[in-house]
Amino acid sequence: MARRILIAGNWKMNKVQSDGLALVEDLVGRVKGEGAAKFDMLVCPPFTLVSKACEAAAGSAVAVGGQDCHMNEKGAHTGDTSAWMLADLGCSYAIVGHSERRTDHAETNEQVRAKAEAAHAAGLIAIICIGETLAEREAGRTIEVNRTQLLGSLPDGATADNTVIAYEPVWAIGTGVVATPDQAQEVHAMLRAELVSAKGQGTADAMRILYGGSMNPKNAAELLALPDVDGGLIGGASLKADDFWAVAQGCP
Ligand code: PGA
Repeated sequence: MARRILIAGNWKMNKVQSDGLALVEDLVGRVKGEGAAKFDMLVCPPFTLVSKACEAAAGSAVAVGGQDCHMNEKGAHTGDTSAWMLADLGCSYAIVGHSERRTDHAETNEQVRAKAEAAHAAGLIAIICIGETLAEREAGRTIEVNRTQLLGSLPDGATADNTVIAYEPVWAIGTGVVATPDQAQEVHAMLRAELVSAKGQGTADAMRILYGGSMNPKNAAELLALPDVDGGLIGGASLKADDFWAVAQGCP
């Protein structure tokens, strides 16, 4: 089954109004100029820029998402943002369970699953991030760690329409050390097989599994050509329009 490539930019805690909005506008122009693009494009700015990014991308093929969401719709959670608030601004996606949230905020698989459920309930597509640390890989635990995170973070109601998986080896994030095609394909194929068991062949065949971790214009084409890699979650290389666009041009 043909899965449409998703090129997703995770800006993390970068950019202010001036350069952030210029980047969205630049991408909107390029996507328009492309006509029938071979990929879906998503940007996930920091929360401060989500509203204006949604306005700048309105009516275009560039989607906007949050980098996280709370598991509750509303309430006494100072500093948090709910999935419903993201949807209200015009977002269509929310990243949940990024390794920086799992590390900085001690998020567990159970919490990530609850956040993904909240995203679904608010009408958003959840991008559920998983990935092993270098120590886990070196201890031969890569498959086990990713399987546990996948199955622990995946809501019962996950479908190919409301969920995207992102495999992001922690040792590759922001390091310039990218997974080899063999390393990426091994984990992606395992994840696909686990999705077959958990959700059935049809859902597993249709659900997108992104690779993330030092994806850049030089290595994107090789990674995006792998049979079970259905796009990228891109950090550093999503901060400049030329780089992000060049990654997207790596689509097979
Ligand atoms: P990177 O980040 O592309 O800068 O490695 C990817 C991510 O953390 O999503």
